[in-house]
Amino acid sequence: MRLKDRVAIVTGGAKGIGRASALELAREGAKVVVGDIDRAEGERTAFEIVEKGGTARFIHADTSDYESVEGLVKETIRSFGRLDIMFNNAGIGNPPVSVLDMPPEEYHRTVAVNQHGVFYGIKAAGNAMKEKGGVIINTASVYGFFADRRHFPYHASKGAVVMMTKAAALELARYNIRVVAVAPGLVDTEIVAPWKQRPDLWRTVEKAQMRGRVAKPEEVAKAVAFLASDDASFVNGSVLFVDDGAASFKR
Ligand SMILES: NC(=O)c1ccc[n+]([C@@H]2O[C@H](COP(=O)([O-])OP(=O)(O)OC[C@H]3O[C@@H](n4cnc5c(N)ncnc54)[C@H](O)[C@@H]3O)[C@@H](O)[C@H]2O)c1
Repeated sequence: MRLKDRVAIVTGGAKGIGRASALELAREGAKVVVGDIDRAEGERTAFEIVEKGGTARFIHADTSDYESVEGLVKETIRSFGRLDIMFNNAGIGNPPVSVLDMPPEEYHRTVAVNQHGVFYGIKAAGNAMKEKGGVIINTASVYGFFADRRHFPYHASKGAVVMMTKAAALELARYNIRVVAVAPGLVDTEIVAPWKQRPDLWRTVEKAQMRGRVAKPEEVAKAVAFLASDDASFVNGSVLFVDDGAASFKR
């Protein structure tokens, strides 16, 4: 167990990549706080961890609201006495629309959750980790590196996550806090459900991947656990692609 007795927060831990990561961090020995706006599914993730012999609790938190994120960190420390790992993972997609027709409120909502949420997590967790050090992991995306059509707010937010990871790593190094990111390619979660509703489109999407399939959330979770552990002790300011090479070839 690489994370025995460490305390971790996973935002967006109710479903998808966050849920799989919460389970994986717990399997590695961490006490896990699941932070999410989805109470029913979030409590289910925490319950599953406890059922498997781990330690977990759910705390309702909206990452687009600084006070909510600060409350999540404070409540975690009240419960478990410390914070070692902050996984800023909560994120939303946006319906595919040209930038010319993009409703400003859609842009603001995506950026509020995906970008501001990561800033809030870095600020709140960074302050809480200043004494003892720790690891902050952010969920970026291959969409932070290359552009697709009709996903303008998502690109804006994920590009920002990449640079916020580097800038925060530089500032927090003096506190022995590592700041890193994962950049998944396509992962089979609810965020891609609108694509899956059209089987022909989904088959094309799968075929376009380097080995003809998208990732399972558990494959991203393994990378998250590595980054959270001392096995990644010299990995800092980096973005780890978990994309089966998607960011490396021209489509
Ligand atoms: N699925 C993919 O293909 C893919 C690819 C690259 C990056 N990502 C990123 O991975 C992260 C997780 O997404 P996922 O694919 O697991 O999607 P998902 O929809 O399965 O899970 C997202 C989770 O975030 C929670 N959430 C949404 N808004 C929130 C808020 N304001 N505050 C707290 N929690 C909130 C949801 O309730 C849900 O539990 C996101 O940042 C997403 O952008 C996903």
